[in-house]
Amino acid sequence: MKLPKRHFDALIIGAGGAGLNAALQLASANLRVAVVSKVFPTRSHTVAAQGGVNAALANVLPDSWHWHMFDTVKGSDYLGDQDAIEFMCREAIPTVYELEHAGVPFSRLEDGKIYQRAFGGQSQDFGGEQAARTCAAADRTGHAILHTLYQQNIRVRTHFFDEFFAVDLVRDREGVICGALALEIESGVPLLIESKATLLATGGWGQVFRTTSNAHINTGDGAAMALRAGVPLMDMEFFQFHPTGIAGKGMLITEGVRGEGGYLVNREGKRFMEGYAPHAKDLASRDVVSRAIVTEVKAGRGCGEQGDHVMLKLDHLGEALISKRLPGIRESSRIFAGVDPVDEPIPVFPTAHYAMGGIPTDRFGRVAMPAGKGAEEVVPGLYAAGECACASVHGANRLGGNSLLDILVFGRLAGKDIVDFVRENPYRRGADAASLDAAMSRLTRLDRQGEGIQVHQLRAEFRKCMEDHAGVFRTQEIMVEGYQRLCELRDRLPEVRLSDHSKVFNTARIEALELENMMDVGLAIAVSALHRQESRGAHSRPDYPKRDDQNWLKHSLYYREGDRMDYKPVRTKPLTVESFPPKERVY
Ligand code: FUM
Repeated sequence: MKLPKRHFDALIIGAGGAGLNAALQLASANLRVAVVSKVFPTRSHTVAAQGGVNAALANVLPDSWHWHMFDTVKGSDYLGDQDAIEFMCREAIPTVYELEHAGVPFSRLEDGKIYQRAFGGQSQDFGGEQAARTCAAADRTGHAILHTLYQQNIRVRTHFFDEFFAVDLVRDREGVICGALALEIESGVPLLIESKATLLATGGWGQVFRTTSNAHINTGDGAAMALRAGVPLMDMEFFQFHPTGIAGKGMLITEGVRGEGGYLVNREGKRFMEGYAPHAKDLASRDVVSRAIVTEVKAGRGCGEQGDHVMLKLDHLGEALISKRLPGIRESSRIFAGVDPVDEPIPVFPTAHYAMGGIPTDRFGRVAMPAGKGAEEVVPGLYAAGECACASVHGANRLGGNSLLDILVFGRLAGKDIVDFVRENPYRRGADAASLDAAMSRLTRLDRQGEGIQVHQLRAEFRKCMEDHAGVFRTQEIMVEGYQRLCELRDRLPEVRLSDHSKVFNTARIEALELENMMDVGLAIAVSALHRQESRGAHSRPDYPKRDDQNWLKHSLYYREGDRMDYKPVRTKPLTVESFPPKERVY
């Protein structure tokens, strides 16, 4: 069969906030842009973002982008690049107004301005009183933003390939990335999409952990494609556990609950956060709150028959406020925890939520690789934005409300940079036969019959291993054991057999491809974590309990080939203001 082929100026893989904001720039500039998405675009995981997007609008309390920058640098445990952070915090303000003008239905204050709520790690005046910086559409902010961006893309005639799975990147004869091989999920027919520039915007990989707030689609496909293309992944050891997932299930209960005045209690009914973060209490940053919850449970102060969670109390907020500001979490609590938070507390425990690390990029979304002697070079035509990318604005721990901001700011800028790139590189590039064969072999490898292991069995073992060995607290012993186990599981990938269902349902084939991707990403996390001998942000090691700036104030880079690690310096110089030097981080 002859392989069907399409050609575009730009290919965007992923239709969440980053991909759609990039596509909007491209199509608005009259470029031919294709968006490939393995789900219908408005089902991308941005839809699940609840609490809001940070911007120092000062609608509720005094604020400034500079205070926002300080909080983000401190929240990152000083591992974020300060030039990128300054840029993001400055851009936040016009970005939110642009969204408002595009039609995002933000909640409103009495005076008609955009509603802003308090979120963790936010302060006024460089570490002073709590700020209120998170612009919200009730507790369904991502939903509001994603739908608006999709509608805007329809207006500018972006071309969507809905329910197509991106199998792998392809290169031309000169080795330049020139698109991707995709698979139409319904028919199982492959499609080659050639492009002058390609943007990876595939989101995160929370599915590598057993208990997660992430959708089933968050399997690290873009990050794994980058790894296979020889690109390293940066700062992969830093994975965020959101403090308030529904206990035992993982669904997100927004930090906005605590922003509205909710608080955590242990089995004794005590507000334990006072002991861990005397000033910020329940609105300390996420790494601090998650560690506190796990510590309470380990100390025997957990709730429930098994003593394995704590309680999030918000009944004192009253039904009117809960229905107005937090309708979504009321619904989720009723469905998944069987409690109505108007009357009863919600059982919660940390849930795998967000990847701080990812594909290394500059702030224009250009994928950047080390090129020897401390120099970097961009990979021509390859871009990344959103959670799969690491523009290094979150460092070792992201602040709530900064992820929607990251995807919008850097998605937009990547789109604008691609417009320039395509205008400067207008000639069509064609995929080289060897590169195409390599991509196709991912598909043909799967057509294995007979005895073996089913995808879901291997996946369950893998996700359990990640949860047990790369969770909130990590020691050398736990991580070495985890790495060995992961290697064994990776070696079993060739034993995977698709069930007979695969003849009917191509989703089985997709799940096998996703499992390969997840294993690559899981190993990147495990190896990066094993090497970092300090505690910083979300990487918490009881055997190395302190942050060690002398030896470890540096970004990690993981290469798939040989599970190799490398490092590069943190950019501590902002664009226009003074640096924030590392300090002890207290809340
Ligand atoms: O808690 C939340 O609403 C999550 C927000 C975020 O991860 O930024």
